[in-house]
Amino acid sequence: MTAVKSIAVLTSGGDSQGMNAAVRAVVRSALYHGVKVFGVQRGYQGLINNDITEMDLRSVGDIIQRGGTILQTARSKEFTTPEGQQLGAENLRNRGIDGLIVIGGDGSYQGANKLSKLGIKTMGLPGTIDNDIAFTDFTIGFDTAVSIVVDAINKLRDTMTSHERSSVVEVMGRHCGEIALYAGLASGAETILVPEVPHDCQEIAKRMSDNFAHGKRHSIILVAEGAGKGDDIARQIMEHNGIDARVTVLGHIQRGGTPTHTDRILASRLGDFAVRRLIEGDSGKSCGVIKGELVATDIDLVVNTKRPFNMELYNLALRLSQ
Ligand code: ADP
Ligand code: F6P
Repeated sequence: MTAVKSIAVLTSGGDSQGMNAAVRAVVRSALYHGVKVFGVQRGYQGLINNDITEMDLRSVGDIIQRGGTILQTARSKEFTTPEGQQLGAENLRNRGIDGLIVIGGDGSYQGANKLSKLGIKTMGLPGTIDNDIAFTDFTIGFDTAVSIVVDAINKLRDTMTSHERSSVVEVMGRHCGEIALYAGLASGAETILVPEVPHDCQEIAKRMSDNFAHGKRHSIILVAEGAGKGDDIARQIMEHNGIDARVTVLGHIQRGGTPTHTDRILASRLGDFAVRRLIEGDSGKSCGVIKGELVATDIDLVVNTKRPFNMELYNLALRLSQ
């Protein structure tokens, strides 16, 4: 006996690599458990527009390796209104759909919560490259985004060393510094600027001059977009120490390409877990993995909890980049 007879799945907000692997896991797991499954095109706007199609095993063939989302995504102002939410719930109910899995960030989770309160059983999957969702060690897409940044910095090191320059690399993350932190530690960056930790460009410039004086032949500065603009940071530092700097803004390249195996496995585990929680009658929860264990946490708690910044990793990165 399953608590839900039919479920729908949608992707919402900024897309991320691994969303397709999550959609695939939701569809295959639902069908395995004898539950009908529908795909909603273009996030909550598709829910309002009734752009909902039943899916089968073949609907999600050959997508585990693809970035982006076959269901596409959208940002929908209309869905932030009670009327939009009511219409979305009605469109689901008219098809006999009693469960919904939302793959997105915290904004999308807020939407899932509104549907929960309208009687639709919902589960949230943390689909965003930002890694800014609490109660999961990592979000779907984060590992791939960090790998893209690290690969770019590997390339930048070569040319910055040839010219004995500093390289300022601006990365995504919205108001969260996790991409900069993890990519900075993995790349041996000398400086990592994140919104969670105040910075002083004069101190950075002085430390860079000392490093060059002691034989370093390049300097890598990672700037999370929430901490400022790469161009502004480069200009301020150059004004203090005169060391030639070049700025690279990685932008949306961090959001594309094939997901790493880590993101594919995370997405597969979470997609299947969300289906099993709905079948067991659970609702209004965000699915995550903490220390390897699958967890489901109230969405209300998740969206009202700021993810703690990992100062231990931050200090390690600086200690090892002397
Ligand atoms: P993310 O999910 O990546 O944080 P957004 O913050 O853009 O992305 O949210 C995605 C969509 O979720 C929005 O376009 C809107 O349709 C819906 N949404 C966001 N916040 C709310 C809210 N408080 N109530 C209802 N729907 C919301
Ligand atoms: O939330 C994911 C994210 O990539 C952020 O890191 C970034 O600031 C934002 O989306 C960009 O939004 P858009 O794709 O709408 O330009």
